[in-house]
Amino acid sequence: MKFTLDSNDVSHQHTDCIIVGLFEEMALTPAAKQIDKISKNYLTNLLKQGDFQGKMGQTLFLHQVPQLNSPRVLLVGCGKQAALKACDYRKIIMCSVKALNTIKIKDAVTFLTELDVDQQDDAWKVKQTVAVSEEALYCFDQFKSKKEPKPTLREMTLSIPKIQIKACETALHQAVCINDGVLYTKNLANVPSNICTPTYLAEQAKKLGQAYKNISVKILEEKAMATLGMNALLAVSKGSAQPAKLICVEYKGTTKKQAPVALVGKGVTFDTGGISLKPADAMVGMKYDMCGAATVLGTIKAAAELKLPLHIVGIIAAVENMPGGSATKPEDIVTSLSGQTIEILNTDAEGRLILCDALTYSERYKPDVVIDIATLTGAVVIALGQHATGLLSNHEPLAKALLEAGVEIHDRAWQLPLWDEYQDQLKSPFADFSNVGGKQAGTITAACFLSRFAKKFNWAHLDVAGTAAMMMGGSDRYATGRPVPLLMQYLINRTNTRN
Ligand code: BES
Ligand code: MN
Ligand code: ZN
Repeated sequence: MKFTLDSNDVSHQHTDCIIVGLFEEMALTPAAKQIDKISKNYLTNLLKQGDFQGKMGQTLFLHQVPQLNSPRVLLVGCGKQAALKACDYRKIIMCSVKALNTIKIKDAVTFLTELDVDQQDDAWKVKQTVAVSEEALYCFDQFKSKKEPKPTLREMTLSIPKIQIKACETALHQAVCINDGVLYTKNLANVPSNICTPTYLAEQAKKLGQAYKNISVKILEEKAMATLGMNALLAVSKGSAQPAKLICVEYKGTTKKQAPVALVGKGVTFDTGGISLKPADAMVGMKYDMCGAATVLGTIKAAAELKLPLHIVGIIAAVENMPGGSATKPEDIVTSLSGQTIEILNTDAEGRLILCDALTYSERYKPDVVIDIATLTGAVVIALGQHATGLLSNHEPLAKALLEAGVEIHDRAWQLPLWDEYQDQLKSPFADFSNVGGKQAGTITAACFLSRFAKKFNWAHLDVAGTAAMMMGGSDRYATGRPVPLLMQYLINRTNTRN
């Protein structure tokens, strides 16, 4: 969809539909007030009849409102009159765009930007409007024989006061580029694992390298990984007919020498659990076990679109976790790239095994910070549900910067402790440590495992098992594109503090 900014009032709009908000107490927002005035109390009369209560998310189309140059007005309920919470604002945008999509509207002008949102400015509202509108219209029909009809809505104009236009234009450009990355990540994540194999992921990365001149891509094959000694990663891939790939994507948005941000992604294209096989129900949704990888690619694409003056390295460990005659078995011991030995007690704790070698590999880029993104534990879904990404880090300033970026763009994370006490749960009588830490604090012990491979750099771990995709089973399954917005806001903030 195309988004534009505009400072003209309602009487000057020539559009298929003008969108305005209304509160429960029949209080009108400024644009609604103006419509009421020029239409000689059309809205007040309508409200008197009780046709519209202003309940949060309620919508009503009005046709041929007198004195307007636009044929329709969409009233959107905004609840009780007060500064809205961020989540309420998003709900209101979502409902309005869904309503527009039910009738064949091509363009609309929204005045919902005049709603007060707690602690947020116009730039924030612009970013959220773009993100939520695109989310509302998203459709993945690549594998439907009958395609869904394309949304008719092509252009959305956001009403913004004149003095804010400049700041909002920057925000709009950022939002559009971030959305480009989110869309890419969702589409890639939604492709099923019979097509989206490690090889497919590598091909997608190569395509990015062809599309953007400052992105270069290098693929390490199994043989090269074996020579290097990436035995933890290869142990996961052993049961699969699909060869593993280590996908290295480098974005150079600046000619200045700059220690890169390394983004390490979990790319398990399907997670059966391996010999520690998952039950059938728990396996549905496991095509999304490559969301970390899709996030790395989507973020780098968005950074390239936005031409961020940064050096970013993406390292994706791409494997398929399968049982098979040559698969790794519980109690097998492997030597990781770092030299540390691991007793694999559960082959379903495979994410940490591929990530640990990718983390060690990232050292060669001499990164300023390393952030890994992984659908790592079911435990994080129990702890935080679908609203917050789990964040664990060995460097407080990095953790803080990521948490703040998440709040800013409304793609939030919540920090869990990485205390030494938890490390004891990984003890093994036979190897340096094992790959599982028992029932308690599963998300933390998984991060504890990774922390043993992150001693040489500032590192943060994002456990996105609850946020990157909804995996309720049945028809309610979809990728969200998270945490691309969080990472993009973090990267944007880095460019601001560095100048
Ligand atoms: N990919 C899963 C984590 C997961 C679970 C993601 C549910 C999304 C939804 C991961 O590889 C896994 O299987 N983790 C195990 C770890 C356990 C064996 C220590 C888990 O969480 O059960
Ligand atoms: Mn697993
Ligand atoms: Zn997994």
